Amino acid sequence: MDATPIPDAQVALDGVSKEYELGGTVTALDDVDLSLSPESYTAVMGPSGSGKSTLLNLVGALDTPTAGRVVVAGDEVSALSERERARVRGTEIGFVFQTFNLMPRLTAVENVALSLVFDGWDRERRRDRASDLLARVGLGDRLDHRPNQLSGGQRQRVAIARALAADPSLVLADEPTGNVDTDTGAEVMGLLDDLQADGNTVLLVTHERRIASHADRIVHLRDGRVDRIEAA
Ligand SMILES: Nc1ncnc2c1ncn2[C@@H]1O[C@H](COP(=O)(O)OP(=O)(O)OP(=O)(O)O)[C@@H](O)[C@H]1O
Ligand SMILES: [Mg+2]
Repeated sequence: MDATPIPDAQVALDGVSKEYELGGTVTALDDVDLSLSPESYTAVMGPSGSGKSTLLNLVGALDTPTAGRVVVAGDEVSALSERERARVRGTEIGFVFQTFNLMPRLTAVENVALSLVFDGWDRERRRDRASDLLARVGLGDRLDHRPNQLSGGQRQRVAIARALAADPSLVLADEPTGNVDTDTGAEVMGLLDDLQADGNTVLLVTHERRIASHADRIVHLRDGRVDRIEAA
């Protein structure tokens, strides 16, 4: 329930700091300790600029800390090469972003299939798996639509299907309901709830208390530090 290390943690941050040098030093994260146990659901809240996205990017092996260790599914991602981190991202981690980050020229099914290249599957097998995932998020009849031919909520569901493509153990979501209406937001949150029920570990960033209450616990960041951890 707190920052004490969990022996078999799915994710562990140990004394993690992140500084950016940009006309001076910005300390985005300052000596953060945090553990996520397998199959847990954690929300991160905090004011704008408090380090939420920075934390998610470090856990997602998109970036490396200035100090400290980040361990994901047994890999010390903070010590891996960019190439090795890409492997961890491709096999262990699914991302859902506020802005969806879909490839505009690719159809829904192609966007999802794209994230299966790491598994070395052939084209047909990737398309089949992508179609199944899109059906699972209710888009079985939108396979060949490009992002600009889909609603915002449908785009976010494509992004969730893409996050699930490689069957990750960890799903990271940064403001996944930030650009969708209330009803679609509820659907998106329902999908994340299902993911936890299916045995995934979920880490969610949100500004909204109501959204955060889907999690088991809420980590409050302030000025790059863990201010407090609360049971949701
Ligand atoms: N690439 C970067 N270069 C320089 N400074 C950065 C960079 N990324 C983030 N920062 C700074 O680090 C701090 C934390 O940023 P971060 O994006 O983690 O905040 P956040 O909590 O996600 O905010 P928001 O709620 O607005 O998304 C901010 O002060 C930001 O300006
Ligand atoms: Mg952010």
